[in-house]
Amino acid sequence: MNKEKQLNKIRKQILETKLPLQETAKNLVFGKGNPNTNILFIGEAPGAKEDEQGIPFVGAAGRELNKLLQSINLNLEKVYIANILKYRPPKNRNPNNKEIESHTPFLIKQIEIIKPKIIATLGNYSTKFILAKFETKEMKKIPGISKLHGETKEIQINENTYKIMPLYHPAAMLYNPKLRTVLEEDFKKIKKELQKKIK
Ligand code: URA
Repeated sequence: MNKEKQLNKIRKQILETKLPLQETAKNLVFGKGNPNTNILFIGEAPGAKEDEQGIPFVGAAGRELNKLLQSINLNLEKVYIANILKYRPPKNRNPNNKEIESHTPFLIKQIEIIKPKIIATLGNYSTKFILAKFETKEMKKIPGISKLHGETKEIQINENTYKIMPLYHPAAMLYNPKLRTVLEEDFKKIKKELQKKIK
């Protein structure tokens, strides 16, 4: 079965599962892009626009992300993007641990199907969560994004090892314009990583 079909199967499984946050959300925001990509971006949770359209990163943060991708000759159609949470929490409130834990297995399945060379984590929460290997209790041991951004780390998820590239969330540069240059430099590092031969 090709990756697209495998992902569709997971999407169906989510729709058939009574996941927390499903009742208050308008749409499932599963993921979008090219499942055969070398790079998977992981954000936090859908916002209002994403909830309305059922597509991740369609709002202001998505526009900024697309500009950054274009700066290294990529775009939202060439990479794959998913969030930790598959449904928007009401009024963007913080999700609780039970909600996060019930959504995580689906993200892990997406990662295992796509098997990207690099996982780029968008923002502090996503970075800590992935580097803590999806254990919310372990997140406090992980340093903040200002320390980690732009340097790859390796983690093992089940049988596979993945290169993690922590990044500031593209929405962060909307209120802190200084972060634009930082993100642009980190995207150049992504380009270099993608050019390295797959071992
Ligand atoms: N921010 C995220 O982390 N994810 C989205 O889908 C949109 C904004």
